[in-house]
Amino acid sequence: MLQKISDLLNEISILSIKNPEELESFRLKYLSKKGIISDLFEDFRNVSVTDKREVGQKLNLLKQSVLEKYNSLKTELLTTEDTSSAMDLTRPSFPFSIGSRHPISIVRNEIIDIFTRLGFIVSEGPEIEDDDHVFTKLNFAPEHPARDMQDTFYISRISSEDSSPEDILLRTHTSSVQVRVMQNQKPPIRTISPGRVFRNEAISARAHCIFHQVEGLYIDENVSFADLKQTLLFFAREMFGKETEIRLRPSYFPFTEPSAEMDVSCKICGGKGCNVCKYTGWLEILGCGMVHPNVLESCNIDSRKYTGFAFGMGIERLTMLKYQVNDLRLYFENDLRFLDQFKTAF
Ligand code: PHE
Repeated sequence: MLQKISDLLNEISILSIKNPEELESFRLKYLSKKGIISDLFEDFRNVSVTDKREVGQKLNLLKQSVLEKYNSLKTELLTTEDTSSAMDLTRPSFPFSIGSRHPISIVRNEIIDIFTRLGFIVSEGPEIEDDDHVFTKLNFAPEHPARDMQDTFYISRISSEDSSPEDILLRTHTSSVQVRVMQNQKPPIRTISPGRVFRNEAISARAHCIFHQVEGLYIDENVSFADLKQTLLFFAREMFGKETEIRLRPSYFPFTEPSAEMDVSCKICGGKGCNVCKYTGWLEILGCGMVHPNVLESCNIDSRKYTGFAFGMGIERLTMLKYQVNDLRLYFENDLRFLDQFKTAF
């Protein structure tokens, strides 16, 4: 019997298991009522009185070892189970914060999406520009106030008296991209140019020195003011809802003739009048007009053959109206309490 006990001690010391089923077979084999240990205790009764003491001690030791082995196998199984579940790639992850798009990007993408559906393509130009593309080719008279240092950030200026084409500046509007497109492409041209623009303004809730515009340009034979109006009506309704009305007020830009500013019916009060639309029922959203023949000619496009329209809108302003943001500075502060509110937008 002593031999049997020491064989069993060896057997269990090297034993290992792979899964819960094997652990259960181990328990049944050694520790159950009909298992090896209770069989041995059964046999113990027949051991001679002289051997009883030694065999009894060994038998208790065996029982103790089997119990310990059982417990250690059980913990081992639990920990392996744990690691395997940590490797389960289908488990849901921690609630990571995934961030959101910036409201300016959301609205810019929406504008691009609407115009690309009408066949416009996106074109971009440099933020650091020259006087020629920002002013001269757009029919700005040499003494036009927009060229003044008050509005424009100049990087280098040849002479403050005559605005020389070598003047390097930060573009004050995306209309400079129109010029670049017209210089490089032949009509028909149908393009929109989203981008950052810069003006020397004091920063407040209503003004900032950096903001974003989207410029639109359409040049072909027989493009009329009616095309402009219809395009902008489509845009306004896609952007602000099917019920939206537009109105065009005569205005002035050096690069368009005739020029207009476009208002949309206030979507907050439905046109009845509220403090957002200053009780007029209308909100101004963009400037537009028929491309001035001088601009076409300065970009080598025959103004007797081709006509075109252009428009330009501020993305910050559209975002303010769409999401009722009341302070421009919020767009630049990277405050997560503001940005997190746009998580559900696309
Ligand atoms: N560039 C003008 C602005 O910045 C907007 C505009 C674009 C007006 C195109 C008419 C045509 O205010």
